[in-house]
Amino acid sequence: MSKIIINGQKELTGEIEISGAKNSAVALLPAATLCKTKSTIYNVPEIRDIDYLIKIMEHLNCKVTVDNGAITIDSSKLKNKPIPEDLSVQMRASYYFMGALLAKFGKVEMSFPGGCNIGARPIDIHIKGFQELGAHVEIIKNRYIITAKKLKGKKIYFDFPSVGATINLMLAASGAEGTTIIENAAMEPEIVNVASFLINMGVNVRGAGTKTIEIDGTKNVDNGVVDVFPDRIECGTYIILGALIGKNLRIRGIIKEHIGALLMKLTEIGVNYEINGDVLTISKCEDIKPANIKTQVFPGFPTDLQQPITTLLTQAKGVSNIEETLYENRFKNTYDLNRMGAITNVLTLNKLEIKGPRKLKGTHVIATDLRGGASLFLAGLIASGTTEIEQCDVILRGYSNIVEKLRAVGADIEYVE
Ligand code: UD1
Repeated sequence: MSKIIINGQKELTGEIEISGAKNSAVALLPAATLCKTKSTIYNVPEIRDIDYLIKIMEHLNCKVTVDNGAITIDSSKLKNKPIPEDLSVQMRASYYFMGALLAKFGKVEMSFPGGCNIGARPIDIHIKGFQELGAHVEIIKNRYIITAKKLKGKKIYFDFPSVGATINLMLAASGAEGTTIIENAAMEPEIVNVASFLINMGVNVRGAGTKTIEIDGTKNVDNGVVDVFPDRIECGTYIILGALIGKNLRIRGIIKEHIGALLMKLTEIGVNYEINGDVLTISKCEDIKPANIKTQVFPGFPTDLQQPITTLLTQAKGVSNIEETLYENRFKNTYDLNRMGAITNVLTLNKLEIKGPRKLKGTHVIATDLRGGASLFLAGLIASGTTEIEQCDVILRGYSNIVEKLRAVGADIEYVE
């Protein structure tokens, strides 16, 4: 079984370059199937989710060429085939083929998507949206068969601004007749990234990044080109790392507006950093104050940084509190953090208390989910002794070249098959 092994307490200095955003890239690849012939996506991260998406696209008869972070997709011979369960369950984002294939062929058949086990994660908002556009949805066991003779644009109100549902509906609406208006849409930067790709391939999209998005459907979609935005969660994770054990650690590729909530929280707890262009420089904070954090949809504090910042708060002088409002099962990392010496208490399903500061000690731990795994590798990097992270492949689903990047700034870390 593969493991990440860390010998901690090595001061980290030098530069880490942020890769393209996982949550953008995993939507942009399925979006490329909307094009009649070719499209190119630049700055794609080297992560496991992308490998699986490419397998799905090849199964659908796309020709996919990967060249130094640029992925070119030739979808001229795209075939609409059911997506096998062993591929679709590898990640949650496989659900974006629902919107894309529905727009293109009026039919899609696939199993319920997978992804990290951090809560129930239903896709009812996606399904209701497809139905509003005129699709018929049949669910047999965990298999979804979605068909539409014709998709028709409509005004849709979301019960909750779901990232996945917003993107999926944008994809489906691209192939609908007339205009679709999504009200209470998600405003995350990944939505803007996908919208810019759609616009580039010929779909008229207005309002992405706001609560109301309008999409004019068209059959004339081709030659999309897009750059994946830098990954704001990878960026946030490495900034937190800098506050824990950096020495003038430079993080290159930051977009301030994408990480505003994190930066404000860091300032509040006493962490200093400097921003010059797209580079943030940060060193270990010797006097971390406790904080109260509530996860929210963008531009609020991102749930995906909740587990990483928990590790930082184990070093704060006093009691911190976290309220997780998006997922009901996102504190599984705290079991192993406590085994390493932290004191965290899950007060209710979505409330966590962290008592610091605590010295952490390396031991065997298990990465139960992607960002929980991140909180453990951060802990391992500041802990005394050796930390062995089992089930570490879940971390490789979202952190591009993590071992190489951390080694380059001085970490003693290795990946063992
Ligand atoms: C995306 C991100 C994930 C991030 C999350 C919130 C991807 C591939 N994943 O996940 O990293 O943690 O945004 O920022 O982009 N919900 C429903 N019904 C639905 C859809 C969602 O009840 O149909 C609920 C979910 O269970 C969850 C909340 O809404 O409690 C947020 O979900 P959503 O915004 O859809 O997140 P994902 O797109 O799954």
